[in-house]
Amino acid sequence: MNIPTMRLDGKVALITGSGSGLGKAVAEGLASFGADIVITEISSKLELGQDVAREIAGNSGRKVIALPLDLPDLASIDRLVTAAVAQMGKIDILINNAGVQVSKDALDVTEADWDIVIDTHLKGTFFTSQRVAKEMIKQKSGRIINMASQLGLVGYYKRAAYSAAKAGIVNLTRALAVEWAGYGINVNAVAPTFIRTTLSEQAFSDPKIYNDLISRIPLGRVGLPEEIIGPMLFLASDASTLVTGHTLSVDGGWTAM
Ligand SMILES: NC(=O)c1ccc[n+]([C@@H]2O[C@H](COP(=O)([O-])OP(=O)(O)OC[C@H]3O[C@@H](n4cnc5c(N)ncnc54)[C@H](O)[C@@H]3O)[C@@H](O)[C@H]2O)c1
Repeated sequence: MNIPTMRLDGKVALITGSGSGLGKAVAEGLASFGADIVITEISSKLELGQDVAREIAGNSGRKVIALPLDLPDLASIDRLVTAAVAQMGKIDILINNAGVQVSKDALDVTEADWDIVIDTHLKGTFFTSQRVAKEMIKQKSGRIINMASQLGLVGYYKRAAYSAAKAGIVNLTRALAVEWAGYGINVNAVAPTFIRTTLSEQAFSDPKIYNDLISRIPLGRVGLPEEIIGPMLFLASDASTLVTGHTLSVDGGWTAM
């Protein structure tokens, strides 16, 4: 029997929106397990992405580059994937992590709010996956992991567009898993609860909201970015070859209640 490894030596992972937060943590984690990494940042923050790439390369000894990506622009996605393949030779693992948050009562959400959230998360995830899948099909293997959210599985206040986008990502994950299984591409998602990053710190600063969140998490605390690494590593590695179309909750038990 071959015992599967969670090492990623020889693999190339492209992680969108990895200049900060969960994406940066996952990039550091995958590099520490042997993967070479493509960091992406929006053009106006590319310098941040380059600093993170240097930091992770220094810590891990892996090849780490930073490239611009401005979702949901299809030309930007195409430029990213073309440059990543030219510089790294291939893409084995795609993590669709980039995202934005608009936290407003549903009655106050504007068309612009709706569009930026749905377009960045849902349109961005789909068209990045489609472009990268065309490369993965050539090598007859690949892993696509979408960053969903527990708010794609349950509702919460002030998150109408975000919840709609993340629920879309959960079922897009199933649809792509079914359609691309024949090409050797596994498509899964990770659905975290509230994790401490710049995206969520605003919610945590209001004690009323923070206490409400904690009361819904059986483990009694919000998450840390590094707690997303293990689930991502599992879905990126040979430990999960038979897993596809699945959304892995990483939520301290919120959705188990
Ligand atoms: N932090 C949480 O509590 C939490 C919980 C569940 C899911 N998530 C999801 O995790 C992912 C990362 O969130 P985070 O908390 O690390 O936030 P973050 O703000 O630290 O990181 C988001 C990243 O996405 C990039 N980005 C934003 N808009 C973009 C665009 N139009 N094109 C390309 N890149 C863009 C940002 O530059 C940044 O690098 C998001 O998809 C988010 O919805 C976060």
